[in-house]
Amino acid sequence: MGSISIIEVKGLSKVFKGKIRAVNRISFNVKEGEILGFLGPNGAGKTTTLNMLSTLLRPSEGAAKVNGFDIEQEPDAVRRSIGYVFQEPTLDLQLTGRENLDFHGRLYHLKKEDRKRRIEEMLQLVQLTDRADDLVKTYSGGMKRRLEIARGLLHHPKVLFLDEPTLGLDPQTRHSIWDHIQRLNKERRITIILTTHYTEEADFLCGRILIIDSGEIVALDTPEKLKAKLEGDVVILVIRNPTMVLRARSLFEEKKWVRRVDVFSRENTETSPDLKMEKMHRMRGVSRIGGMMGEMGSGEGGSIRKQKPKRHEDIPEMEIDDGNRRKDLGSKQLNLLVDNGSHRIPEIVKLSEAAGITLESVELHKPTLDDVFLSVTGRNIREEKGSFVEMARRHHILQQARGKRGVG
Ligand SMILES: Nc1ncnc2c1ncn2[C@@H]1O[C@H](COP(=O)(O)OP(=O)(O)O)[C@@H](O)[C@H]1O
Ligand SMILES: [Mg+2]
Repeated sequence: MGSISIIEVKGLSKVFKGKIRAVNRISFNVKEGEILGFLGPNGAGKTTTLNMLSTLLRPSEGAAKVNGFDIEQEPDAVRRSIGYVFQEPTLDLQLTGRENLDFHGRLYHLKKEDRKRRIEEMLQLVQLTDRADDLVKTYSGGMKRRLEIARGLLHHPKVLFLDEPTLGLDPQTRHSIWDHIQRLNKERRITIILTTHYTEEADFLCGRILIIDSGEIVALDTPEKLKAKLEGDVVILVIRNPTMVLRARSLFEEKKWVRRVDVFSRENTETSPDLKMEKMHRMRGVSRIGGMMGEMGSGEGGSIRKQKPKRHEDIPEMEIDDGNRRKDLGSKQLNLLVDNGSHRIPEIVKLSEAAGITLESVELHKPTLDDVFLSVTGRNIREEKGSFVEMARRHHILQQARGKRGVG
């Protein structure tokens, strides 16, 4: 990796309609040749940031340079320096893969010979040569994504922006896309900025991770260092009975050796693709070592915004049996952050028994990026707490996109 900054961002903000501060004075640099991940939940400001850096949106405040060019003063030069794979697919399904690439090459005024050569090269790179002359509508989700990556690289950009590159893909396809991204970065030395709300994706792919929440950078460091700042272990208690969940929470919150207690809905995590992916991850032998939650923000090199973790004072998603309307919302999981987890487990089990709390299961793991996210934002990244307005906006965009393509 070079030591030159290929992207420099200073105090960049975007305010929509004079009031929605989607991105709030963010500053960071990206080194040539690195893979930097923007990790954050829906609505965090990831796409808005990429849109500003790629000159599609004008910033409200601040400045940025991409490949040495100012995004406001030299937008054309910035555009020539970058490739962009959008969150929403933008391929023409009625054209072949090759035709899609050819169309893009013409947009970039590539001469006929260059175009032909580069299209072949890119098709090979993403392993689509065999299917190049089939209509894109016959492609699988992963093939479409690969074609979009090929298209983003056709004009030989130095920087590639990938907005949620594996959104909605099955775990296997996701892994194949990851391999392609890594290969591009290693073999072609392309700097890659990607956004994701999958912690495993960020962990696996990125040299550094920038955690963004409500338009602000809350942490920026290597995955290893982010996790190492949380020394200790996470003990997960699965409990079915809602009353017992509350009892367990107050029981363990009182203990000095428990640094933190968080309650999650078990259902969420079990059905989440992330968890399945995490299992695959483990099978691939990726070690998840890290270490806790003490003084965040004191690390060298990286930065973490100091924030007092919010406690889950109330558990809004939990319905307590009130006798009349009983709702079975599945099991809850209590995450306890403790020192020396393996030694504490017998005590945890004993205390639970004594308090009449039935434990469905007890698990122990090293902190993951999910735990890091929780520690810097006070929320679980999987909560997907989109506001109504946000959901309505997304629905509207989807409808528009469908209308344009003449489907649905
Ligand atoms: N064109 C727009 N007009 C108004 N609000 C917007 C617009 N684009 C994005 N937003 C708002 O800005 C915030 C960040 O959105 P976005 O950058 O798309 O987040 P992410 O990509 O992290 O999911 C959200 O609250 C979103 O509703
Ligand atoms: Mg987005």
